[in-house]
Amino acid sequence: MKIRKTKFNFDNTPNHYLRGNLFSTHFVNSLHIIFPVGEHFFIKSVKPFMANIKEEQLKKDVSNFIGQEATHAFQHEKFWKILQNQGFDIEKYSKFIDYLSNNIIVKNYTKLLGKEKAQKFSLAITAALEHYTAMLAEVVFEHEENWEQLPDDIRNLIKWHAAEEIEHKSVAFDLLNSVDKSFALRSFSMLMATNLLFGYSLMGISYFIINDSKINHKKIPLDFIDFVKTIASPSFKKFASQWVLFFKRDFHPSQIDNMHFAENYFKENPQYYK
Ligand SMILES: [Fe+2]
Ligand SMILES: [Fe+2]
Repeated sequence: MKIRKTKFNFDNTPNHYLRGNLFSTHFVNSLHIIFPVGEHFFIKSVKPFMANIKEEQLKKDVSNFIGQEATHAFQHEKFWKILQNQGFDIEKYSKFIDYLSNNIIVKNYTKLLGKEKAQKFSLAITAALEHYTAMLAEVVFEHEENWEQLPDDIRNLIKWHAAEEIEHKSVAFDLLNSVDKSFALRSFSMLMATNLLFGYSLMGISYFIINDSKINHKKIPLDFIDFVKTIASPSFKKFASQWVLFFKRDFHPSQIDNMHFAENYFKENPQYYK
């Protein structure tokens, strides 16, 4: 695992860049906002535990995890300019998401649990959300046909992010295990993570659709069917098979065989990364 430098350029991105599909594009657009907010939260969640990590390897992994997540956030935030040019008030919307996450959700459970327990809870939510990003990453590599027509740099943004999510899928989980092995904490955090992810995605898709001035209303039914077929259904199938594994007492992310997706992607596309 390492921190890679990327030089994506998203200029000249068409409005409905994913298969010309309103829903698929706005699902990915909602992720362009959720990911950076989530990734800043992940970094904040692991930091308080870094000083006490005893294992050298885990120490290195956590620092690479921070570097990778910071780079992901930076690249997705770079995409915000494109969305702003398309007429979306991203500054206002991202500030709202950030406020909701930090000033309402995190602040309230910190008040309720106290600082120490709240820090563990944040770390456990991070581990659970990392299980989701690894599942989504598998969907990305199992459905290459979805991304074929995308502009090169957006396709590589998606695949690079997916590959690194697979690469670092165990880090937050291992850190949580080194801090607190509580099965109840891990399970409850997954329920919380599930609510957050689905809530934010739905909110994001709704925001982008409501504020999209380029909607072709006649295409809505067909676009919706295509979105369900190509993105929603493969994702839900993946969640149905792997979500429950997180609730097995002896679960570890390395038990899921998907590392080859990341390795192959970086082997086949060295020109994009240093
Ligand atoms: Fe990430
Ligand atoms: Fe991640």
